[in-house]
Amino acid sequence: MASILVINGPNLNLLGGREPDQYGYRTLQEIMEELDRFAGACGHELRHEQRNGEGALVDIVHQAAVDGVDYIIINPAGYTHTSVVLRDALLAVGIPFVEVHLSAVHAREEFRQKSYFSDIALGVISGFKGESYMLALQ
Ligand code: DQA
Repeated sequence: MASILVINGPNLNLLGGREPDQYGYRTLQEIMEELDRFAGACGHELRHEQRNGEGALVDIVHQAAVDGVDYIIINPAGYTHTSVVLRDALLAVGIPFVEVHLSAVHAREEFRQKSYFSDIALGVISGFKGESYMLALQ
């Protein structure tokens, strides 16, 4: 059994109503409930956290190491393109992680095409709306 932590960054609490053309119509809760069911059916333990602040996200990554989390699935949201500190936190704990995006970041504005996480991630899933999380979990 693996312990898996899903971490969601800023503004993802607004999913469902936020730019649905980019991010889909499902709420974060709906997406996380589906993930939880699938993980449970496969015999894995899944938890999820969402924060809007960078420091709070860093604290969650640190706590994941204390808790013995095996894998992280993370959507750093806007911090994808800016956050050295969140990158450093993931490097510090050394927990393998998958980077997830609902939208197809490489087909959007140029500033979204730079990620501080992709080169240290196990893999990157982008563009499948809520399904991106399920693909990462699989
Ligand atoms: C996002 C893409 C980011 O560029 C954006 O800032 C987000 C969400 C995505 O899931 O597609 O907030 O990470």
